[in-house]
Amino acid sequence: MATVLITGANRGIGFELARGYCARGDSVLACCRNPATANALADLAESNAHVEVHALDLAKPATISKLAGTLTGRTIDVLINNAGIQGPAMGEQSLAKMDYEGWAEAFAINSMAPLRVLQAFLPNLKASGMGKAITITSQMGAMALDWPMGYAYCASKAAVNKVMRLASVELATRRKWRSR
Ligand SMILES: NC(=O)c1ccc[n+]([C@@H]2O[C@H](COP(=O)([O-])OP(=O)(O)OC[C@H]3O[C@@H](n4cnc5c(N)ncnc54)[C@H](OP(=O)(O)O)[C@@H]3O)[C@@H](O)[C@H]2O)c1
Repeated sequence: MATVLITGANRGIGFELARGYCARGDSVLACCRNPATANALADLAESNAHVEVHALDLAKPATISKLAGTLTGRTIDVLINNAGIQGPAMGEQSLAKMDYEGWAEAFAINSMAPLRVLQAFLPNLKASGMGKAITITSQMGAMALDWPMGYAYCASKAAVNKVMRLASVELATRRKWRSR
């Protein structure tokens, strides 16, 4: 059975992933900003010994290193960068009106934090021997989709697509060199 780390596991897609993996018998390291208020996750952990709840706030990089320290030596087979934000209100991320501070926040959470998380848990994934890193993106980040949607959200998802593509190429190259 696999060990799966999921960010933003207290609600939405992250919570459903946590539920799905633990229903299959996998171990889930369910991360959320505030475990004290993550009631659904607490119930899941209460009824399933393979679910651990951990604090992780992507806006606070120190919490990423703290959790990496806590999980040192533990194998992670699947890392799911799921947590994400929309950024500014939809009316405030367009050509007509842009909340630049909100855009920077969306970029920090949606584009930069997934790389920080991948870097922090790379040793755990390597320990698996077949570790997989997954980042939940959005079709809104696709260059081919020309819907006039929020600039900040769309740009942050396009950026994380590129970041993860670069990381995947680098990791594949490193593996090729190691196997020679
Ligand atoms: N729903 C869709 O239709 C859809 C479509 C395409 C892509 N996506 C992507 O799928 C992912 C999950 O979407 P969702 O619909 O499940 O979103 P959601 O219901 O809004 O949940 C977002 C999750 O991210 C967490 N989060 C936000 N900021 C965080 C931070 N600073 N540190 C740690 N966790 C943080 C939230 O925690 P809190 O509860 O503490 O806020 C929550 O657990 C996102 O990356 C989203 O962009 C969603």
